[in-house]
Amino acid sequence: FELPQGGKATVSIRKVAADAVCWEHIQLTDTFDTSNTDYYRPVYHHTPLYGWMNDPNGMVYKDGEYHLYFQYNPYGSKWGNMHWGHSVSTDLIHWNHLKPAIARDTLGHIFSGSTVVDKNNTAGYGDNALIALYTSASDEHGQIQCMAYSTDDGRTYTKYEKNPVLLPFDGLKDFRDPKVFWYEPDKKWVMIVSADKEMRFYASQNLKDWEYMSAFGKGYGAQPNQFECPDFIQLPVDGDKNKMKWVMLVNINPGCMFGGSATEYFVGDFDGKEFTCDTKPETVKWLDYGKDHYAAVCISNTGERIISIPWMSNWQYANVTPIRQYRGANGLPRELSLYTKDGQIYVAADVVKEVEALRKDARSFDAVTVKGEHKIDELVPQTDGAYELEMDITPGTSGVAGFDLMNAKGEAAKIYLDMKAGRLVMDRTASGLVAFGEKSEPHAKETDDHRKTMSVNYQNDFALGTWAPLSLCEGKTYHLNVFVDKCSVEIFVDGGRIAMTNLVFPTEPYNTLRFYTEGGEAQVSNMKVYKLGL
Ligand code: FRU
Repeated sequence: FELPQGGKATVSIRKVAADAVCWEHIQLTDTFDTSNTDYYRPVYHHTPLYGWMNDPNGMVYKDGEYHLYFQYNPYGSKWGNMHWGHSVSTDLIHWNHLKPAIARDTLGHIFSGSTVVDKNNTAGYGDNALIALYTSASDEHGQIQCMAYSTDDGRTYTKYEKNPVLLPFDGLKDFRDPKVFWYEPDKKWVMIVSADKEMRFYASQNLKDWEYMSAFGKGYGAQPNQFECPDFIQLPVDGDKNKMKWVMLVNINPGCMFGGSATEYFVGDFDGKEFTCDTKPETVKWLDYGKDHYAAVCISNTGERIISIPWMSNWQYANVTPIRQYRGANGLPRELSLYTKDGQIYVAADVVKEVEALRKDARSFDAVTVKGEHKIDELVPQTDGAYELEMDITPGTSGVAGFDLMNAKGEAAKIYLDMKAGRLVMDRTASGLVAFGEKSEPHAKETDDHRKTMSVNYQNDFALGTWAPLSLCEGKTYHLNVFVDKCSVEIFVDGGRIAMTNLVFPTEPYNTLRFYTEGGEAQVSNMKVYKLGL
């Protein structure tokens, strides 16, 4: 059907196609107002053309193409009817939208999972077949791991006739999001699955028969509820290939530092069977310090380069953001690396270098010493709200140095370095539309403290800002790359030692930059603004 231009339609489904079983939750009850629905659609971030998107799934690189599958509801812009949506790109920036690759079936929703290139035909579908492992989820069958294969470069998948390939041995209700990788020393496939408050490891020779090996996670990190979407990758420490470490990425919801969803990680060793974490159970490390970085997993088969992509939202309010025709965008792809700081190993998540191709016009600014206030109007001529800001900022040792990204209505995303507290802060109390989402109780101790120190009379959890410890960085000058795209602000400090991803909903683009200091002065140098576009 087509919607009349500028009109509204309410559609209810009475009949479904014969093969479209289990679509009882169809949610075509939204009214589509074509005049205002896409105002916040990002210019250069991946979004579905229509419908709801959450987690990136099954991302894999093959023959020059990056496949981005994602949790997708083709029938409405709220969560439901989960399929694997599909987009492909040759450069991680320009995405072509393809038909959904795996559709919901009698076993239930198609939840998150992963895809591998079966180079040596271990599963029997041919050399280099793409094999997807995903969770089927339904009330009737629970959460079970299933398999599907593609022999047409990931365009279509055939489900394995003997699905499921793996059930929880203890009847667990939450058992999902398999991530599979090839473990070369033992010449076997390894799967990591989230199983409520732990991650379980399984091994296989053929991607169909899986044997339980071990579990990790109980009591580790921040985990008030359960783990979701795990990933498991190997990286050199400080670029030294003789010093490799394993990193377990896990997404937790709710229970994050700022409420709701976020990504944490553990660094340690893996002997082919078991993971041992370097740090004590109470140590918590976050991959991103914003409120809108979730379900981040890495693209399979990219060799030594490890690239993660997040879903840019938070379950606290993902279904009610002020968008209608589509909901959900991916954060910019990030290249992961390990660095050592104060005897600890951390993950840096820096935006991939491919994004530089988005830079259209560059504007350079003279270095300036800010004492009090320094304002730049018309930051980007005739802006559509899509640009990058790059600068070095030296804040001095005490006080606050920062900038507001503002529009003429006085709406502002406030970003500052609080040197007394040792924090990079982003405050979105006055960033534009903030009055949606739920006011939920803090889960982590930090959150309470955070609310006090922000001294914000927040309306809800969306308005609440976020902060990151500056102790993750070295030196006194901080290099910032700030990506603004209609309704998001992603901040990368010192090559991703701090990453902070937050949504914002200004009612017109921010186009004034107001630097300020409180109690001291700050130097801003090497500042450039780039208009970004595809
Ligand atoms: C994470 C998640 C996954 C699940 C999917 C369902 O955001 O809850 O655990 O597979 O979303 O859409």
